Amino acid sequence: MDDDLITMDDLTNEEIISLLDDAERLLPVAHGSEYLPLLQGKLLANMFFEPSTRTRMSFEAAMKRLGGDVINLGDVNSSSAVKGETLYDTMRMVDGYCDIASLRHPRQGAAQYAADACAIPIMNAGDGAGHHPTQTLLDLFTIRQAHGRLEGLTVALVGDLRYGRTVHSLSHALARFDCNLIFISPSQLAMPVEIVSDLTNAGASIFETEDLYGAIPDADVIYMTRIQKERFPDEDEYTKVAGIYKLTAADLTGAKGEMIVMHPLPRVNEISPDVDGTRHACYFEQAFNGVVARMALMCRLLDVTVPGGDA
Ligand code: NCD
Repeated sequence: MDDDLITMDDLTNEEIISLLDDAERLLPVAHGSEYLPLLQGKLLANMFFEPSTRTRMSFEAAMKRLGGDVINLGDVNSSSAVKGETLYDTMRMVDGYCDIASLRHPRQGAAQYAADACAIPIMNAGDGAGHHPTQTLLDLFTIRQAHGRLEGLTVALVGDLRYGRTVHSLSHALARFDCNLIFISPSQLAMPVEIVSDLTNAGASIFETEDLYGAIPDADVIYMTRIQKERFPDEDEYTKVAGIYKLTAADLTGAKGEMIVMHPLPRVNEISPDVDGTRHACYFEQAFNGVVARMALMCRLLDVTVPGGDA
């Protein structure tokens, strides 16, 4: 694979499957029931220029559970970014401090820019409304754990498909595994036309609608997303669509028994807490899977073999 993970295009389908297999083998390590210091002596830099809870903490948990260590940018307002330091200069420094880095940044394209500036592997942890490929790895892992496969599933992606980077990366990956995609959003938040045409040209089956409730009986996965308030140029435009989809337990009575509800989190009000107790709720497990997915990825980028595989 590539030395960096910027978009899902950096991975072949075979590489994705092999990473998911490695992630599965690392489950006891993520649970803390086994200690496997595969990354002892390695240092990760977590460079988060935007808020994060799960992504940053699961990168840290992954590195520490594998015996490595982590340095953090910390609060962006107390970093040299406020003095006007460019991303290029900051990343050139980090390149010398550590062995691998994750980067979250409000600017689309920032991760590629950082990768061009650095010799160490760069993992895109979200670039504006662009991509979020490490989230996609944990999403694919969660789907495969629940359904035993990725191929041919019907996946409904719901909410902010315009600004949501998780669904941009995930839809590209699912299309490559021949999933049927249902894009559910108000028209103002529809999946960008260039992504839809890319996917369609690659032979993906896509159905676009505003109707969440009509799609529930067909779905194997319902992937809810938060309306990305921070990306709206105008607060009034956000207010018009805020709270547009709210999934409740009662809405799920017509769902397939094995259908899973996912959400990259944080949720605002897209999923009612009464869904949490249903057999369909999968989002907390999904968040946990961030640890194994990121463990597998860091091992791969640092050329460390996870024991138990074919390689
Ligand atoms: C997502 C993100 O940052 O894009 N969060 C995450 O990484 N789990 C989704 C979101 O913020 O809505």
